[in-house]
Amino acid sequence: MTNELWPSLLDPALHGDDELCAVSARGVRVRFLDGRELLCGTSGLWNANLGYGNEAIADACARALREASYLSVFRYENLPARQAARELVEAAGADHWGRVLFSTSGGAANDVVMKLARHHHALRGEGTRKLVVGLRDSYHGLTFGGFALTGENLGQPVYGVDQRLIRHVTPNEPDEIRALAERQGRQIAAVVVEPVLGTGAVPLSPEYVRTLLELRERYGFLLVADEVATGFGRVGSLFASQLWPAPPDLLITSKGLTNGTCAAAAVLVSRAVADAFHASGDVFVHGETQAGTPVTCAAVLATLAEMRRLDAVASARRLSARLDAALADLVATHPRVSGTTGAGCFRSIRLCLADGSPLPQDQVTDVVAAIRRAGAIVHPSVSGVQILPALTYTDAELAELLDRVRAGVDAHAGTAATTAAGTEAV
Ligand SMILES: Cc1ncc(COP(=O)(O)O)c(C=O)c1O
Repeated sequence: MTNELWPSLLDPALHGDDELCAVSARGVRVRFLDGRELLCGTSGLWNANLGYGNEAIADACARALREASYLSVFRYENLPARQAARELVEAAGADHWGRVLFSTSGGAANDVVMKLARHHHALRGEGTRKLVVGLRDSYHGLTFGGFALTGENLGQPVYGVDQRLIRHVTPNEPDEIRALAERQGRQIAAVVVEPVLGTGAVPLSPEYVRTLLELRERYGFLLVADEVATGFGRVGSLFASQLWPAPPDLLITSKGLTNGTCAAAAVLVSRAVADAFHASGDVFVHGETQAGTPVTCAAVLATLAEMRRLDAVASARRLSARLDAALADLVATHPRVSGTTGAGCFRSIRLCLADGSPLPQDQVTDVVAAIRRAGAIVHPSVSGVQILPALTYTDAELAELLDRVRAGVDAHAGTAATTAAGTEAV
């Protein structure tokens, strides 16, 4: 059979592989074209936070598609978009947040915040503030803006991604960003951070967050929380930045926003920023045909309602405590598991070789494949694998996931040992 599909970021040698071609998904399981059903330890791409096939969200989407297959927020408004914006502001905190811009992906929403921050400063007579600061090893998407801001090296130069107005600093190193602010603070439009860096699941330390807030006060840049992945209950509150001592100026939410059902993102804008903007009468030049459509907004509203009905944030906290215990046990009992990182239901397992050195990065995809063969889907991470279970995972599902991870790591270690022995023999 020919395969016309060009999948994203998949090794070309694996294109067309039926083992990797999903057919359907229900609850926390995904069925593949080769006939196997795997336990999903990643909530899709970290977006199906309430599991697959949620009936209430599906019904809401179907109703919206019948009532109005399409309405835009481009030179018009639509009622579902108004309602979704209001509920998002209320859920995030209406005392601080004022307005919502809809977008269609995390990357595009990162473009939005970079543009919005620069326009905001231009309105205040500070049009020279153009720099946007991100963190090394961060991930903000692969659109030209988001790709430029992404601190992980993913081949930006090949694509001519322009990073001249971007600065990267090391996460959790307060002195480094302090020094940058001292040098160029009045040219910085925004600092954009993931509360937990997706790459390696590295949470920002409370001290680092305090430094960012203090520098924002001193130098006047906008602080942006890229909560594409951490939003919607993933790390113990609806948004991770709700646990900061003070909120950011802009907040991006995307993955869990529609439980993965629509191409959707939203940028929450603080009252202060929104008011200054609207007082100016300027038009913000950003718009996307498919942003804020009735089906997307129905999905947002139904997801928020389901989060409340299932008490998903509280259940995520309970799951997080069970993960703490299960992962601590894995580290204590498995010689190839050297540690874990992350927060809430956003975790990474660090692996090592027999001599204790970190698992080489080029072996990570083999471990992910071994865990697949053992029956579970996990994502590659830094010298290990990432697990982000649905917030609704039961105890039995968590135990099964850990068993399959253990079996996959064992199988990989066994194969690697055999290969090494074989190589030696040769
Ligand atoms: C923090 C963060 N920002 C942005 C993105 C990009 O989102 P999208 O793939 O929807 O463009 C991601 C995706 O993983 C992300 O985790």
